[in-house]
Amino acid sequence: MERTLSIVKPDGVKRGVIGEVIKRLEESQINIVAMKMIYMTKNQAKGFYAVHKERPFFGSLTDFMSSGPAVVMVLEGEGVIARYRKLMGATNFEEAEEGTIRRDFATDIEKNVVHGSDAPETAEFEINYFFNSFEIVS
Ligand code: RTP
Ligand code: MG
Repeated sequence: MERTLSIVKPDGVKRGVIGEVIKRLEESQINIVAMKMIYMTKNQAKGFYAVHKERPFFGSLTDFMSSGPAVVMVLEGEGVIARYRKLMGATNFEEAEEGTIRRDFATDIEKNVVHGSDAPETAEFEINYFFNSFEIVS
């Protein structure tokens, strides 16, 4: 049984697609086992995206992630990391497959509506970054 961290990023919350993301998770029979709204500080965003700290877009990305409320969720199920990344679509929405969340709602390579962990190790770090064990149902 695998877990992954999902975020509806600040652009997704502002544009009113929290429900749309949740609907797609439910339609795909992906289990949500934790969920809350957060408003990250710049430092919290920098800690979350520390793997990207040498990238040219790090400053802009962490400004964006701390620009408004976001919804963080823990998803659970067999192969859920890959299944959720397939629902999200490619980082660049212009390259994302038809019917994916990013293809349908993203407006920019950075403002791409959702985040999903990319491997079991990053998922564990990212889930622990936002949730303690009492906040995750099983
Ligand atoms: P995420 O981590 O948010 O789920 O997205 P991802 O794996 O598809 O993409 P990643 O390479 O991890 O990049 C993290 C986020 O940084 C922003 N980004 N901006 N300006 C750019 O060229 C650029 N590249 C990436 C996006 O918000 C991306 O989701
Ligand atoms: Mg990533």
